[in-house]
Amino acid sequence: MTSSADAVQRAPPRAAPAYPGAHLQLVNVWKRFDGAPALRNVDLSIAPGEFVTLIGPSGCGKSTLFNIIAGLAAPDEDGSILLSGRVQQNYGLLGKVAFMPQRDLLFPWRSVIDNATLPLEVEGAPRKLARQKAQALFPEFGLEGFERHYPHQLSGGMRQRVALMRTFLFERDLLLLDEPFGALDALTRSMMQRWLLDVWARHRRTVLFITHDIDEAIFLGDRVVVMTARPGTIKREERIDLPRPRAASLATSPEFVEIKRRLLAVIEEESLKAFAGTAAP
Ligand SMILES: Nc1ncnc2c1ncn2[C@@H]1O[C@H](COP(=O)(O)OP(=O)(O)OP(=O)(O)O)[C@@H](O)[C@H]1O
Ligand SMILES: [Mg+2]
Repeated sequence: MTSSADAVQRAPPRAAPAYPGAHLQLVNVWKRFDGAPALRNVDLSIAPGEFVTLIGPSGCGKSTLFNIIAGLAAPDEDGSILLSGRVQQNYGLLGKVAFMPQRDLLFPWRSVIDNATLPLEVEGAPRKLARQKAQALFPEFGLEGFERHYPHQLSGGMRQRVALMRTFLFERDLLLLDEPFGALDALTRSMMQRWLLDVWARHRRTVLFITHDIDEAIFLGDRVVVMTARPGTIKREERIDLPRPRAASLATSPEFVEIKRRLLAVIEEESLKAFAGTAAP
């Protein structure tokens, strides 16, 4: 059921596309659960090869947005999604993007290499070919020699690299990474960030990356996109014109600190709203 307040909030369907060269374009995307909007009027456009980081309070709909872009959930009927300029129908995106979910589970009973090749196997690739492709990536992902190990024998950082390798192996031009480093300690996390930028620079995929960490969002992104509290929509976009390759020392530069100061004010405002929402009786 849709409440009258929700009906008032509904924007009329809009014409697409505004950005003909975009790799991914979301136009007026909505998602409601039991009539209550979780996402409202999301407009976002991502250029080919761009690294966009997405930040917003817990529960604002980031993972829901990823599920929609990955074709795992249908958006409401209001808006449209375009991939390389083509409008995608409900679930039409399934299999077209590489997706690393927030709680990415490696199967404990499968070896590292068999975890990595899983999406290729699901796609019907011959096992031998899938393993050959995976094998070639092990050195780059710092996992050489661990092919036959099992997930419980790896550190947290290594497990995340296996999950990332699996995502890269599923050779799609658009990667969705949902808080891939969220569970790592600060030192491992900072190493993984620089390593990911190296991998990205070599493979040149388009990346949409969710994080709760503002430093991470600025350090990695060509652009930081801030979402509002639920119902989530795009509140602010900030282009990050910091030089690449990005060195760890960048985080103390005056430019970085100034961007962070600006974004923090916006994020804090939304986080307070989200907190007030959960604290309400
Ligand atoms: N399948 C579902 N059915 C009903 N409500 C859902 C469903 N999936 C998500 N929600 C709700 O939608 C809102 C957005 O959830 P989502 O997981 O997308 O948030 P998030 O921004 O990824 O949060 P976090 O930062 O904590 O991961 C939440 O209020 C959540 O409870
Ligand atoms: Mg989430």
